[in-house]
Amino acid sequence: MSNNLDRPARLLLRIMYEKNKQLYLHSLRCADIAQGIYINLPEIKNTVREETVAMAAKLHDIGKLLVPDEILETPKRYTGEERRIMDYHPISGAELLLQYFNGDLSDESEKVIFCIRHHHERFDGSGYPSGLKGTNNPIIAQIIGLSDYYTALTEKRAYREPLSREEVRSCLLENNHLFHPGIVSALLTHVEHDIGEKLDRKQAVSE
Ligand SMILES: [Fe+2]
Ligand SMILES: [Fe+2]
Repeated sequence: MSNNLDRPARLLLRIMYEKNKQLYLHSLRCADIAQGIYINLPEIKNTVREETVAMAAKLHDIGKLLVPDEILETPKRYTGEERRIMDYHPISGAELLLQYFNGDLSDESEKVIFCIRHHHERFDGSGYPSGLKGTNNPIIAQIIGLSDYYTALTEKRAYREPLSREEVRSCLLENNHLFHPGIVSALLTHVEHDIGEKLDRKQAVSE
């Protein structure tokens, strides 16, 4: 079996598209943000490829395909058991791909699977599943973690409207213990400069 990630990724994203379009769009948006951060972090270009970052972001929540819909879609607060099932999605997603490759892992697959498993870790060690603190969590997984957090804040949820760019910015600054400051600053540069410019260009065309 090929140890290339492209084929299983295409299949899994296709299933995600059919099963949960909101999750599919979240994954694509997360990939856009992760690439924006990557572009603004020139020092990592020698160790991580942009394609790997994009792939990890697209697949980060693949474990949610294994969470029952009634838990994924409930607008209510999770019970303890529901929270436990939900918080298992980074592990089940990573295990899904590990089983597929059965030990025949490319360097890219290994990095992507690591990101899937650790995208909910936080810089201060308060994340899960392993409570990895600071740079114990490799930079690529930290990029995916922040991209996911940012993307989630900008999306509508059953219990809240999407946050504006300004609200997201304040939220990031208030919670600055959760993410590596250098990665946050790359994100803010991307959002303020690149996305800001794109929006301005769009506006100029429509005027
Ligand atoms: Fe997640
Ligand atoms: Fe996510």
